[in-house]
Amino acid sequence: MRRKLVAGNWKMNGDSAFVSAFSSAIAPNIQALPEGIDVLIAAPTILLPQLCQEFALTRVLVAAQNVSSYASGAYTGETSAEMLSKAGCDACLVGHSERRALFGDTDEVMLSKVRRLLEVEIQPIFCIGETLEQRDLGQASNVVTSQLALLLDNLSSEALGKIAVAYEPVWAIGTGRTASPEQAQAMHERIRDHVRQKDAELAEKMVLLYGGSVNADNSSELFAQPDIDGGLVGGASLQADNFAQICKSIECR
Ligand code: 13P
Repeated sequence: MRRKLVAGNWKMNGDSAFVSAFSSAIAPNIQALPEGIDVLIAAPTILLPQLCQEFALTRVLVAAQNVSSYASGAYTGETSAEMLSKAGCDACLVGHSERRALFGDTDEVMLSKVRRLLEVEIQPIFCIGETLEQRDLGQASNVVTSQLALLLDNLSSEALGKIAVAYEPVWAIGTGRTASPEQAQAMHERIRDHVRQKDAELAEKMVLLYGGSVNADNSSELFAQPDIDGGLVGGASLQADNFAQICKSIECR
């Protein structure tokens, strides 16, 4: 049975007081979740040490939203994977559509980031997804599988087994327009089939998340789909009560 994962992505939101209030509100809810469900918060870099400290004795995992593609040295403004590891991070997002679109993260850069994270045993959460234009042109599957091919073509099955993949259709991010459970399941099935062509065992164990306007009203139906193993939640992860509801809506299968 695959583990379930509900990940919150705070994006560029939050401060120290918010971290304290959020962690005391969420921790008891998360402790009560069945074994087999992981919960994670991806926060801005400056908040990570505090978040790691607040969640140290809880089941909540901590993720960065970005990492340098370089290991160390003269790279002003960057944060290395080793620094994230020493701060206590468990995971890190790579390839979020906002980074692809606004910060020019290329395939080469994203692959280096994934490699740096794997070197220090931080779990990469690799984000893929098509734009509305691509979906309307009937290119959604091809776009998503070619984004995934960056990993499948360049990493071993062993390395791939340490990565979670988040399908986030760009048209559903921050728009309130979520993919229907059927649309999301169809793409997740397609993604898993694509992984199966490389390695059947890997396909069965790979954790696939759905992201894009997930909220407490739509999460249980999305999470009930056979190939959806959890979610990557943006806006709704900024309210502890809502996020706790979303975490509780996932069931161990
Ligand atoms: P929203 O849940 O706000 O649509 O954001 C999704 C997302 O981008 C998570 O990474």
